Amino acid sequence: MTEYKTTHIVFFSPTHTSEKIARGIAEGIGMGRRIETDLTTDDGTTPIEIKDALTVVVVPVYGGRVPVVAIQRLNRLKGVNAPAILTVVYGNRDYEDALIELRDTMTGLGFSPLTAGAFIGEHSFSRPDLPIAEGRPDEADLQKAVLFGRKSLEKLQQSSPIKPLYVKGNHPYKPLMANEPAAPVCNENCYACGECIGVCPTHAIGFSAEKDRIVTDVNRCIKCCACVKVCPNGARIFETPFAKILHEKFNIRKEPELFF
Ligand SMILES: Cc1cc2nc3c(=O)[nH]c(=O)nc-3n(C[C@H](O)[C@H](O)[C@H](O)COP(=O)(O)O)c2cc1C
Ligand code: SF4
Ligand code: SF4
Repeated sequence: MTEYKTTHIVFFSPTHTSEKIARGIAEGIGMGRRIETDLTTDDGTTPIEIKDALTVVVVPVYGGRVPVVAIQRLNRLKGVNAPAILTVVYGNRDYEDALIELRDTMTGLGFSPLTAGAFIGEHSFSRPDLPIAEGRPDEADLQKAVLFGRKSLEKLQQSSPIKPLYVKGNHPYKPLMANEPAAPVCNENCYACGECIGVCPTHAIGFSAEKDRIVTDVNRCIKCCACVKVCPNGARIFETPFAKILHEKFNIRKEPELFF
């Protein structure tokens, strides 16, 4: 049996909740060497081989599925002797078929699903007047992520070979969300500092020709709200009717679910 000495964490995380969970799990594994692959703004095409490493993959849930952009980026990975801890992070509504889709995708890329989890993160559309899972993952969630990492390592040490992993979800997957073009806009408080440009996963934001304002390509926007959350001036606004609906309907705290 391989004695793994490396943890490789991989995430796509526009508003950093998946990233926090990935780090929590890695802390629980506690292996000496840690490698990180952040695919959030990385649209490169160079293949990434992950060999002889316990791999942690964490992505958000969009419309009950793994975001299409995240799947495209994960497709660069190739696992060789790489057991994987697979996790989705959702905004307290539901994760539907995202976890099973992540499991199937990673299996197809050569990884061996070891354990899986669904954690809760502040909803991308959450705002101070309409909070949705605000502040999550919180301390209790992060402790669960650490414990999940520790238990996953214990499972790895006890199982050879790794058996197929059950996770919740259905085949065929739920259809992808309809992609209505829309994007956040800047209000009068925007002073064109450009900070939002660098965090956009799809490079949908840029300066105007005169460099005095910000322009957004609605057709490239995936509504991830990274730009909204990063703006130091509260000048980036995403108006969506879903914020109010989600705030009202999904205000009972959900807890992480784990699969071993
Ligand atoms: C376009 C879009 C669709 C989403 N769909 C869902 C969903 O179906 N269920 C849910 O509970 N949360 C949903 N969310 C919320 C995210 O899953 C949640 O905020 C997650 O923590 C974001 O991860 P990140 O911080 O790593 O970007 C959606 C967010 C966006 C932007
Ligand atoms: S980060 Fe905010 S203030 Fe800066 S350019 Fe973007 S919207 Fe404008
Ligand atoms: S412009 Fe759209 S895709 Fe880019 S960071 Fe903002 S919400 Fe995300």
